[in-house]
Amino acid sequence: MTYILLTGGAGYIGSHTALALLRAGYQVISFDNYSNSSTTALQRVAQLANSNIITLSGDIRDEAALSAVFRQYQISAVVHFAGLKAVGESTEMPLHYYDNNVAGTVTLCRVMREFKVKKLVFSSSATVYGDAKTVPIDETAPRSATNPYGQSKLMIEHILEDLVKAEPDWGITLLRYFNPVGADSSGQIGEDPNGIPNNLMPFISQVAVGKRDKLSIFGDDYPTPDGTGVRDYIHVVDLAAGHLKALQYLESQQGIEAINLGTGTGYSVLDMVKAFSSVNKVAVPYQIAPRRPGDIASCYARPDKALKLLGWQAEKTLEDMVRDSWRWQRQNPNGYGNSN
Ligand code: NAD
Ligand code: UD1
Repeated sequence: MTYILLTGGAGYIGSHTALALLRAGYQVISFDNYSNSSTTALQRVAQLANSNIITLSGDIRDEAALSAVFRQYQISAVVHFAGLKAVGESTEMPLHYYDNNVAGTVTLCRVMREFKVKKLVFSSSATVYGDAKTVPIDETAPRSATNPYGQSKLMIEHILEDLVKAEPDWGITLLRYFNPVGADSSGQIGEDPNGIPNNLMPFISQVAVGKRDKLSIFGDDYPTPDGTGVRDYIHVVDLAAGHLKALQYLESQQGIEAINLGTGTGYSVLDMVKAFSSVNKVAVPYQIAPRRPGDIASCYARPDKALKLLGWQAEKTLEDMVRDSWRWQRQNPNGYGNSN
Protein backbone atom coordinates (compact mmCIF):
# COMPACT_ATOMS: atom_id res chain seq x y z
CA MET A 1 0.00 0.00 0.00
CA THR A 2 1.35 3.47 -0.83
CA TYR A 3 0.50 6.72 0.90
CA ILE A 4 0.37 10.42 0.15
CA LEU A 5 2.06 12.35 2.96
CA LEU A 6 0.53 15.73 3.79
CA THR A 7 2.74 17.96 5.92
CA GLY A 8 0.49 20.42 7.72
CA GLY A 9 -2.47 18.20 6.84
CA ALA A 10 -4.56 19.41 9.80
CA GLY A 11 -4.58 23.03 8.61
CA TYR A 12 -7.16 24.89 6.56
CA ILE A 13 -6.08 23.86 3.06
CA GLY A 14 -4.51 20.57 4.19
CA SER A 15 -7.73 19.29 5.78
CA HIS A 16 -9.79 20.06 2.67
CA THR A 17 -7.16 18.39 0.48
CA ALA A 18 -7.07 15.37 2.79
CA LEU A 19 -10.83 15.02 2.31
CA ALA A 20 -10.55 15.28 -1.48
CA LEU A 21 -7.76 12.67 -1.55
CA LEU A 22 -9.60 10.22 0.70
CA ARG A 23 -12.73 10.58 -1.43
CA ALA A 24 -10.63 9.86 -4.52
CA GLY A 25 -9.42 6.62 -2.92
CA TYR A 26 -5.91 7.65 -1.81
CA GLN A 27 -4.36 6.51 1.49
CA VAL A 28 -3.39 9.63 3.40
CA ILE A 29 -0.98 10.44 6.23
CA SER A 30 -0.99 13.83 7.94
CA PHE A 31 2.17 15.01 9.71
CA ASP A 32 1.52 18.20 11.65
CA ASN A 33 2.90 19.88 14.78
CA TYR A 34 -0.49 21.53 15.47
CA SER A 35 1.11 24.95 15.87
CA ASN A 36 -1.91 26.38 14.03
CA SER A 37 -4.46 23.56 14.01
CA SER A 38 -6.02 20.76 15.99
CA THR A 39 -6.69 17.05 15.54
CA THR A 40 -10.44 17.78 15.48
CA ALA A 41 -10.22 18.86 11.84
CA LEU A 42 -8.78 15.48 10.86
CA GLN A 43 -11.31 13.55 12.93
CA ARG A 44 -14.03 15.34 11.02
CA VAL A 45 -12.30 14.69 7.69
CA ALA A 46 -12.23 10.97 8.47
CA GLN A 47 -15.93 11.04 9.38
CA LEU A 48 -16.89 12.97 6.26
CA ALA A 49 -14.92 10.61 4.00
CA ASN A 50 -16.01 7.55 6.00
CA SER A 51 -12.41 6.49 5.79
CA ASN A 52 -9.25 6.34 7.86
CA ILE A 53 -6.47 8.94 7.89
CA ILE A 54 -3.17 8.29 9.62
CA THR A 55 -2.67 11.25 11.91
CA LEU A 56 0.89 11.84 13.12
CA SER A 57 2.15 14.60 15.38
CA GLY A 58 5.58 15.97 14.53
CA ASP A 59 7.62 18.87 13.24
CA ILE A 60 9.10 18.97 9.73
CA ARG A 61 12.34 20.34 11.18
CA ASP A 62 12.75 17.10 13.17
CA GLU A 63 14.72 14.96 10.72
CA ALA A 64 14.60 11.83 12.89
CA ALA A 65 10.82 12.03 13.29
CA LEU A 66 10.32 12.53 9.56
CA SER A 67 12.68 9.68 8.72
CA ALA A 68 10.71 7.38 11.00
CA VAL A 69 7.56 8.14 9.00
CA PHE A 70 9.25 7.35 5.68
CA ARG A 71 10.75 4.18 7.16
CA GLN A 72 7.41 2.92 8.45
CA TYR A 73 5.19 3.81 5.48
CA GLN A 74 5.70 3.49 1.75
CA ILE A 75 5.14 7.06 0.59
CA SER A 76 4.67 7.83 -3.10
CA ALA A 77 4.40 11.63 -2.96
CA VAL A 78 4.36 14.55 -0.52
CA VAL A 79 2.04 17.56 -0.47
CA HIS A 80 3.85 20.14 1.62
CA PHE A 81 1.48 22.57 3.36
CA ALA A 82 3.36 22.92 6.66
CA GLY A 83 4.39 26.51 7.19
CA LEU A 84 3.68 29.70 9.08
CA LYS A 85 1.66 32.24 7.12
CA ALA A 86 0.95 35.42 9.10
CA VAL A 87 2.56 38.36 7.27
CA GLY A 88 2.64 40.73 10.27
CA GLU A 89 4.05 38.10 12.60
CA SER A 90 6.72 37.25 10.04
CA THR A 91 8.11 40.79 10.20
CA GLU A 92 8.31 40.54 14.00
CA MET A 93 9.79 37.01 14.07
CA PRO A 94 11.78 36.62 10.85
CA LEU A 95 14.15 33.96 12.19
CA HIS A 96 11.22 31.84 13.32
CA TYR A 97 9.64 32.10 9.86
CA TYR A 98 12.84 31.29 7.97
CA ASP A 99 13.57 28.40 10.31
CA ASN A 100 10.10 26.93 10.15
CA ASN A 101 9.36 27.48 6.47
CA VAL A 102 12.76 27.40 4.75
CA ALA A 103 14.82 25.13 7.04
CA GLY A 104 11.76 22.87 7.46
CA THR A 105 11.45 22.45 3.70
CA VAL A 106 15.17 21.69 3.30
CA THR A 107 14.91 19.01 5.99
CA LEU A 108 11.85 17.53 4.33
CA CYS A 109 13.59 17.36 0.95
CA ARG A 110 16.67 15.76 2.49
CA VAL A 111 14.57 13.01 4.04
CA MET A 112 12.57 12.54 0.83
CA ARG A 113 15.79 12.09 -1.13
CA GLU A 114 17.15 9.60 1.39
CA PHE A 115 14.03 7.47 0.92
CA LYS A 116 13.93 8.06 -2.85
CA VAL A 117 10.57 9.82 -2.77
CA LYS A 118 10.93 12.59 -5.34
CA LYS A 119 7.38 13.77 -6.05
CA LEU A 120 6.49 17.00 -4.27
CA VAL A 121 3.60 19.46 -4.42
CA PHE A 122 4.52 22.69 -2.63
CA SER A 123 2.12 25.33 -1.25
CA SER A 124 3.44 28.53 -2.73
CA SER A 125 1.52 31.77 -2.95
CA ALA A 126 0.64 34.65 -5.21
CA THR A 127 2.62 36.67 -2.70
CA VAL A 128 5.75 35.71 -4.74
CA TYR A 129 4.56 38.15 -7.45
CA GLY A 130 5.00 41.08 -5.04
CA ASP A 131 3.35 44.20 -6.45
CA ALA A 132 2.71 42.89 -9.96
CA LYS A 133 2.94 45.49 -12.72
CA THR A 134 0.05 44.04 -14.74
CA VAL A 135 -2.98 41.84 -14.15
CA PRO A 136 -3.95 39.11 -14.80
CA ILE A 137 -0.69 37.61 -13.52
CA ASP A 138 0.82 34.65 -15.32
CA GLU A 139 3.56 32.36 -14.03
CA THR A 140 6.31 34.17 -15.94
CA ALA A 141 5.74 37.47 -14.09
CA PRO A 142 8.76 38.74 -12.13
CA ARG A 143 8.97 37.59 -8.54
CA SER A 144 9.72 39.67 -5.45
CA ALA A 145 8.90 39.76 -1.77
CA THR A 146 8.04 42.57 0.60
CA ASN A 147 8.04 40.70 3.93
CA PRO A 148 9.73 37.65 5.51
CA TYR A 149 6.69 35.41 4.89
CA GLY A 150 6.74 36.19 1.17
CA GLN A 151 10.53 35.96 1.15
CA SER A 152 10.35 32.48 2.69
CA LYS A 153 8.04 31.30 -0.13
CA LEU A 154 10.32 32.83 -2.74
CA MET A 155 13.43 31.28 -1.18
CA ILE A 156 11.75 27.86 -1.13
CA GLU A 157 10.81 28.22 -4.81
CA HIS A 158 14.47 28.98 -5.62
CA ILE A 159 15.73 26.10 -3.48
CA LEU A 160 13.39 23.65 -5.20
CA GLU A 161 14.38 24.98 -8.64
CA ASP A 162 18.06 24.47 -7.78
CA LEU A 163 17.30 20.98 -6.50
CA VAL A 164 15.67 19.98 -9.79
CA LYS A 165 18.58 21.46 -11.74
CA ALA A 166 21.00 19.31 -9.75
CA GLU A 167 18.79 16.20 -9.64
CA PRO A 168 16.46 16.15 -12.65
CA ASP A 169 14.62 13.02 -11.52
CA TRP A 170 12.56 15.06 -9.05
CA GLY A 171 9.00 16.00 -10.02
CA ILE A 172 7.91 19.19 -8.26
CA THR A 173 4.86 21.41 -8.64
CA LEU A 174 4.83 24.88 -7.09
CA LEU A 175 1.17 25.73 -6.63
CA ARG A 176 0.77 29.48 -6.31
CA TYR A 177 -2.52 29.98 -4.50
CA PHE A 178 -4.37 33.26 -4.82
CA ASN A 179 -6.85 34.00 -1.97
CA PRO A 180 -8.36 30.82 -0.51
CA VAL A 181 -11.81 31.22 1.07
CA GLY A 182 -14.87 29.09 1.79
CA ALA A 183 -15.25 25.72 3.43
CA ASP A 184 -16.49 22.23 2.76
CA SER A 185 -20.25 22.36 2.10
CA SER A 186 -20.91 20.22 5.21
CA GLY A 187 -19.82 23.15 7.40
CA GLN A 188 -17.75 20.64 9.39
CA ILE A 189 -14.28 21.87 8.43
CA GLY A 190 -13.10 25.38 7.65
CA GLU A 191 -10.65 28.16 8.42
CA ASP A 192 -10.00 28.69 12.13
CA PRO A 193 -7.71 31.69 12.51
CA ASN A 194 -5.94 32.42 15.77
CA GLY A 195 -7.02 35.68 17.41
CA ILE A 196 -7.99 38.62 15.21
CA PRO A 197 -8.16 37.47 11.57
CA ASN A 198 -5.77 39.20 9.17
CA ASN A 199 -7.60 38.03 6.08
CA LEU A 200 -10.80 39.49 4.72
CA MET A 201 -13.22 36.54 4.61
CA PRO A 202 -12.74 35.28 8.18
CA PHE A 203 -13.03 38.88 9.37
CA ILE A 204 -16.32 39.37 7.49
CA SER A 205 -17.64 36.07 8.92
CA GLN A 206 -16.75 37.07 12.47
CA VAL A 207 -18.48 40.44 12.05
CA ALA A 208 -21.57 38.70 10.66
CA VAL A 209 -21.72 36.27 13.59
CA GLY A 210 -21.35 39.15 16.08
CA LYS A 211 -17.85 38.39 17.35
CA ARG A 212 -16.56 41.72 15.99
CA ASP A 213 -18.37 45.05 15.69
CA LYS A 214 -17.49 46.02 12.18
CA LEU A 215 -15.14 45.45 9.31
CA SER A 216 -12.51 48.06 8.50
CA ILE A 217 -12.11 48.34 4.75
CA PHE A 218 -8.46 49.17 4.21
CA GLY A 219 -8.63 52.00 1.67
CA ASP A 220 -11.24 53.13 -0.86
CA ASP A 221 -8.92 55.19 -3.03
CA TYR A 222 -7.14 52.46 -4.97
CA PRO A 223 -7.15 52.65 -8.78
CA THR A 224 -9.85 49.95 -8.98
CA PRO A 225 -13.50 50.21 -10.15
CA ASP A 226 -14.89 51.02 -6.66
CA GLY A 227 -11.63 52.14 -5.01
CA THR A 228 -11.25 49.06 -2.76
CA GLY A 229 -8.64 46.33 -3.24
CA VAL A 230 -9.27 43.62 -5.82
CA ARG A 231 -8.27 39.96 -5.27
CA ASP A 232 -8.76 36.55 -6.84
CA TYR A 233 -10.75 34.66 -4.19
CA ILE A 234 -10.75 30.93 -4.75
CA HIS A 235 -12.94 28.36 -3.04
CA VAL A 236 -10.85 25.99 -0.90
CA VAL A 237 -12.69 22.97 -2.35
CA ASP A 238 -11.54 24.00 -5.84
CA LEU A 239 -8.05 24.46 -4.43
CA ALA A 240 -8.13 20.96 -2.92
CA ALA A 241 -9.16 19.53 -6.30
CA GLY A 242 -6.14 21.29 -7.82
CA HIS A 243 -3.83 19.32 -5.50
CA LEU A 244 -5.38 16.06 -6.63
CA LYS A 245 -4.76 17.04 -10.25
CA ALA A 246 -1.18 18.07 -9.43
CA LEU A 247 -0.49 14.66 -7.87
CA GLN A 248 -1.92 12.89 -10.91
CA TYR A 249 0.17 15.09 -13.19
CA LEU A 250 3.35 14.27 -11.25
CA GLU A 251 2.82 10.54 -11.71
CA SER A 252 4.23 10.89 -15.23
CA GLN A 253 6.32 14.07 -14.98
CA GLN A 254 9.79 15.10 -13.87
CA GLY A 255 11.13 18.64 -13.54
CA ILE A 256 9.54 21.64 -11.89
CA GLU A 257 6.54 23.77 -12.85
CA ALA A 258 4.99 26.75 -11.11
CA ILE A 259 1.22 26.84 -11.56
CA ASN A 260 -1.28 29.51 -10.51
CA LEU A 261 -4.38 28.31 -8.70
CA GLY A 262 -6.88 31.12 -9.05
CA THR A 263 -10.19 31.75 -10.78
CA GLY A 264 -8.97 34.51 -13.08
CA THR A 265 -11.66 36.87 -11.78
CA GLY A 266 -10.99 39.73 -9.39
CA TYR A 267 -13.52 40.92 -6.80
CA SER A 268 -13.23 44.05 -4.68
CA VAL A 269 -13.60 44.22 -0.91
CA LEU A 270 -17.00 45.85 -1.38
CA ASP A 271 -18.06 43.09 -3.83
CA MET A 272 -17.25 40.54 -1.12
CA VAL A 273 -19.10 42.39 1.63
CA LYS A 274 -22.17 42.88 -0.55
CA ALA A 275 -22.21 39.26 -1.75
CA PHE A 276 -21.83 37.98 1.81
CA SER A 277 -24.72 40.14 3.05
CA SER A 278 -27.11 39.47 0.22
CA VAL A 279 -26.53 35.72 -0.22
CA ASN A 280 -26.57 34.98 3.51
CA LYS A 281 -29.13 37.64 4.44
CA VAL A 282 -26.98 38.94 7.26
CA ALA A 283 -25.66 42.42 8.02
CA VAL A 284 -21.93 43.18 7.72
CA PRO A 285 -21.35 46.65 9.16
CA TYR A 286 -18.19 48.31 7.86
CA GLN A 287 -16.22 51.54 7.91
CA ILE A 288 -13.62 52.88 5.53
CA ALA A 289 -10.17 52.89 7.15
CA PRO A 290 -6.70 53.90 5.94
CA ARG A 291 -4.83 51.61 3.55
CA ARG A 292 -2.99 48.67 5.16
CA PRO A 293 0.77 49.07 4.65
CA GLY A 294 2.11 46.61 2.10
CA ASP A 295 -1.27 46.07 0.37
CA ILE A 296 -1.54 46.24 -3.39
CA ALA A 297 -4.45 47.52 -5.47
CA SER A 298 -5.23 44.55 -7.65
CA CYS A 299 -4.11 40.94 -7.87
CA TYR A 300 -5.70 38.17 -9.92
CA ALA A 301 -4.46 35.19 -11.84
CA ARG A 302 -4.21 34.12 -15.41
CA PRO A 303 -5.19 30.51 -14.69
CA ASP A 304 -4.63 29.08 -18.20
CA LYS A 305 -1.54 27.03 -17.30
CA ALA A 306 -3.46 25.03 -14.68
CA LEU A 307 -6.06 24.15 -17.29
CA LYS A 308 -3.45 23.24 -19.87
CA LEU A 309 -1.13 21.16 -17.68
CA LEU A 310 -3.45 19.84 -14.97
CA GLY A 311 -6.85 19.94 -16.68
CA TRP A 312 -8.01 21.98 -13.68
CA GLN A 313 -10.12 25.08 -13.43
CA ALA A 314 -12.09 26.64 -10.60
CA GLU A 315 -15.77 25.75 -10.65
CA LYS A 316 -17.25 27.36 -7.56
CA THR A 317 -18.93 30.75 -7.72
CA LEU A 318 -18.71 33.80 -5.48
CA GLU A 319 -22.09 32.74 -4.08
CA ASP A 320 -20.66 29.32 -3.14
CA MET A 321 -17.70 31.01 -1.43
CA VAL A 322 -19.72 33.34 0.78
CA ARG A 323 -22.42 30.76 1.52
CA ASP A 324 -19.95 28.06 2.56
CA SER A 325 -17.81 30.46 4.62
CA TRP A 326 -20.92 31.52 6.50
CA ARG A 327 -22.18 27.97 7.08
CA TRP A 328 -18.84 27.01 8.67
CA GLN A 329 -18.78 30.18 10.80
CA ARG A 330 -22.41 29.82 11.95
CA GLN A 331 -22.04 26.15 12.85
CA ASN A 332 -18.67 26.72 14.57
CA PRO A 333 -18.71 30.22 16.02
CA ASN A 334 -15.52 29.45 17.95
CA GLY A 335 -13.84 27.37 15.27
CA TYR A 336 -12.67 23.94 16.39
CA GLY A 337 -12.17 25.18 19.94
CA ASN A 338 -15.76 25.09 21.04
CA SER A 339 -17.91 23.94 18.19
CA ASN A 340 -21.45 22.64 18.40
P1 NAD B 1 -2.69 26.61 8.21
O1 NAD B 1 -1.92 27.36 9.22
O2 NAD B 1 -4.14 26.36 8.46
O3 NAD B 1 -1.99 25.19 7.93
C1 NAD B 1 -0.61 24.99 8.04
C2 NAD B 1 -0.40 23.75 8.89
O4 NAD B 1 0.99 23.49 9.03
C3 NAD B 1 -0.97 23.90 10.30
O5 NAD B 1 -1.77 22.79 10.61
C4 NAD B 1 0.28 23.97 11.19
O6 NAD B 1 0.04 23.44 12.47
C5 NAD B 1 1.26 23.15 10.38
N1 NAD B 1 2.68 23.46 10.61
C6 NAD B 1 3.28 24.68 10.62
N2 NAD B 1 4.59 24.55 10.83
C7 NAD B 1 4.85 23.22 10.95
C8 NAD B 1 6.01 22.46 11.18
N3 NAD B 1 7.21 23.05 11.37
N4 NAD B 1 5.92 21.11 11.24
C9 NAD B 1 4.72 20.50 11.07
N5 NAD B 1 3.57 21.18 10.86
C10 NAD B 1 3.64 22.53 10.81
O7 NAD B 1 -2.49 27.34 6.80
P2 NAD B 1 -3.21 27.07 5.41
O8 NAD B 1 -4.03 28.26 5.11
O9 NAD B 1 -3.82 25.73 5.37
O10 NAD B 1 -1.93 27.14 4.46
C11 NAD B 1 -1.24 25.97 4.04
C12 NAD B 1 -0.04 26.39 3.22
O11 NAD B 1 -0.48 27.19 2.13
C13 NAD B 1 0.97 27.25 4.00
O12 NAD B 1 2.27 26.88 3.60
C14 NAD B 1 0.66 28.65 3.54
O13 NAD B 1 1.77 29.49 3.60
C15 NAD B 1 0.22 28.42 2.10
N6 NAD B 1 -0.66 29.47 1.59
C16 NAD B 1 -1.80 29.79 2.28
C17 NAD B 1 -2.62 30.81 1.81
C18 NAD B 1 -3.85 31.21 2.58
O14 NAD B 1 -4.36 32.31 2.36
N7 NAD B 1 -4.43 30.39 3.45
C19 NAD B 1 -2.29 31.50 0.63
C20 NAD B 1 -1.15 31.12 -0.06
C21 NAD B 1 -0.32 30.10 0.43
C1 UD1 C 1 -2.66 38.69 2.47
C2 UD1 C 1 -1.16 38.77 2.66
C3 UD1 C 1 -0.50 37.86 1.62
C4 UD1 C 1 -1.03 36.44 1.75
C5 UD1 C 1 -2.55 36.46 1.60
C6 UD1 C 1 -3.18 35.11 1.76
C7 UD1 C 1 -0.71 41.03 3.53
C8 UD1 C 1 -0.12 42.36 3.23
N1 UD1 C 1 -0.73 40.15 2.49
O1 UD1 C 1 -2.94 39.12 1.18
O2 UD1 C 1 0.90 37.85 1.81
O3 UD1 C 1 -0.47 35.60 0.76
O4 UD1 C 1 -3.10 37.34 2.60
O5 UD1 C 1 -3.04 34.65 3.07
O6 UD1 C 1 -1.12 40.73 4.65
N2 UD1 C 1 -9.04 43.78 3.81
C9 UD1 C 1 -9.80 44.75 4.42
N3 UD1 C 1 -10.08 44.59 5.74
C10 UD1 C 1 -9.64 43.53 6.48
C11 UD1 C 1 -8.86 42.55 5.84
C12 UD1 C 1 -8.56 42.72 4.50
O7 UD1 C 1 -10.23 45.72 3.80
O8 UD1 C 1 -9.91 43.47 7.70
C13 UD1 C 1 -8.76 43.93 2.36
C14 UD1 C 1 -7.29 44.07 2.01
O9 UD1 C 1 -6.89 45.38 2.05
C15 UD1 C 1 -7.26 43.44 0.61
C16 UD1 C 1 -8.37 42.36 0.65
O10 UD1 C 1 -9.22 42.75 1.74
O11 UD1 C 1 -7.61 44.40 -0.35
C17 UD1 C 1 -7.85 40.97 0.90
O12 UD1 C 1 -7.05 40.97 2.05
P1 UD1 C 1 -6.41 39.61 2.66
O13 UD1 C 1 -7.48 38.60 2.83
O14 UD1 C 1 -5.61 39.99 3.85
O15 UD1 C 1 -5.46 39.08 1.49
P2 UD1 C 1 -4.26 39.79 0.70
O16 UD1 C 1 -4.18 41.23 1.02
O17 UD1 C 1 -4.40 39.41 -0.72
